[in-house]
Amino acid sequence: MAQQYGRDVAPAKGKLGVMLAGLGAVSTTFIAGVENVRRGTALPIGSLSQMGTIRLGKRTEKRAPKIKEFVPLARLEDLVFAAWDPIPDDAYSAAKKAGVLEPQHLEPIADFLKAIKPMPAAFDQNYVKRLTGTNVKRGKTKRDLAEQLRQDIRDVKKRSGADRLVMIWAASTEVFLTAGPAHQSLQAFERAMEENDPAIAPSMLYAYAALMENVPFANGAPNLTVDVPALQRLAEDRRLPIGGKDFKTGQTMMKTVLAPAFKARMLGLAGWYSTNILGNRDGEVLDDPESFKTKEESKLGVLEYILQPDQYPELYGNVFHKVRINYYPPRGDNKEGWDNIDIFGWLGYPMQIKVDFLCRDSILAAPIVLDLALFFDLAQRAGLSGIQEWLSFYFKSPQTAPGLYPEHDLFIQQTKLKNTLRWLMGEEQITHLGIEYYEKA
Ligand SMILES: NC(=O)c1ccc[n+]([C@@H]2O[C@H](COP(=O)([O-])OP(=O)(O)OC[C@H]3O[C@@H](n4cnc5c(N)ncnc54)[C@H](O)[C@@H]3O)[C@@H](O)[C@H]2O)c1
Repeated sequence: MAQQYGRDVAPAKGKLGVMLAGLGAVSTTFIAGVENVRRGTALPIGSLSQMGTIRLGKRTEKRAPKIKEFVPLARLEDLVFAAWDPIPDDAYSAAKKAGVLEPQHLEPIADFLKAIKPMPAAFDQNYVKRLTGTNVKRGKTKRDLAEQLRQDIRDVKKRSGADRLVMIWAASTEVFLTAGPAHQSLQAFERAMEENDPAIAPSMLYAYAALMENVPFANGAPNLTVDVPALQRLAEDRRLPIGGKDFKTGQTMMKTVLAPAFKARMLGLAGWYSTNILGNRDGEVLDDPESFKTKEESKLGVLEYILQPDQYPELYGNVFHKVRINYYPPRGDNKEGWDNIDIFGWLGYPMQIKVDFLCRDSILAAPIVLDLALFFDLAQRAGLSGIQEWLSFYFKSPQTAPGLYPEHDLFIQQTKLKNTLRWLMGEEQITHLGIEYYEKA
């Protein structure tokens, strides 16, 4: 029987504007992909919201609608796009330079892509050392820049006729920052913007602008951005969903599948060496040690939380975990993520596993951008505010409420996501107990 709770979800009326900070490989692959799907020339493979189903009730009921038919999501036909980038290329030129999609997916939609021109960015080279941009905003203070971003948001809304907006950071990874006094309250944050405090990175200006304009914000890079008390409080006060950090795509996605399997079988882990070679602009930016540090923290965190060395010191108390990213131009966006995993079993005998993932970074990230845009919009219409932990499924370093450790196991994250959808729609949670199939009353 359906549970009584659930949420009133406002219908997805009108257009949804997806605002992207960054119009690089991921953003253009996402936009071009959506347009191809809309024209019937490709399938939205990798998107749970578009291809996934959700089981409802008992297995014997055989109810498994598509997610997009079960919850009221915006339709792909209703999406409109806008972006900021310090590089002035329109979406067509940016996509060509990124070299991810073949002409068959770009040429027929060239006019559509050319019409998406990036707005001047709030950009500061101190935070992304390997980039220089000409399409940038000028302002005396960081607060001026944030106000200009707010004006852009209002203009996009008017120009596009969008009823609702969401913003996603798909821009370069910024240098490593930790939360400090400037991030503790809105007052301190606003003062820091006025004083051009280095603690305020450009990505934070976008997040602040979004929240001040009632726009949900998701962070696809590992930067600190919205993972600070001042902006979390702002999101809660204004009843807006936020989330991050760092799209979980290739190597880390595999790590959060394999590590839970070792732990489930109580197999020990001695070491995990992960290396990557990639040659896109993201790789070039991550070649800077300060941007790499931000990414490294994000990639390293997952094992510690999954394996719980405190609880299993004999199995996971002495793991050597190393992550490297090497910029190697010939590979372009086609990254190779190589893992050597040293595990041990019964009586301590060692074994090895090698994983060589010849992946395509932006092909894996684009459907995540789509799902996040649709689910953050859903969250807002359902009145969910603050950190959306149920969307951890999509992130390498999921934000959580203070005092909670993040859940990294991909399948726990999936269960959490689907149970949240069931809960929103007043359907029963699935516990996988199933004893009733065997014990007749
Ligand atoms: N592709 C993946 O699998 C994946 C996974 C996790 C995270 N990410 C992250 O997603 C982000 C985008 O990746 P990508 O491959 O598209 O990189 P990219 O370099 O192709 O695109 C990023 C774009 O952001 C722009 N940019 C930099 N600073 C900006 C600012 N302040 N405002 C607006 N735009 C700005 C750059 O000019 C560039 O065009 C990166 O941070 C990357 O680390 C990607």
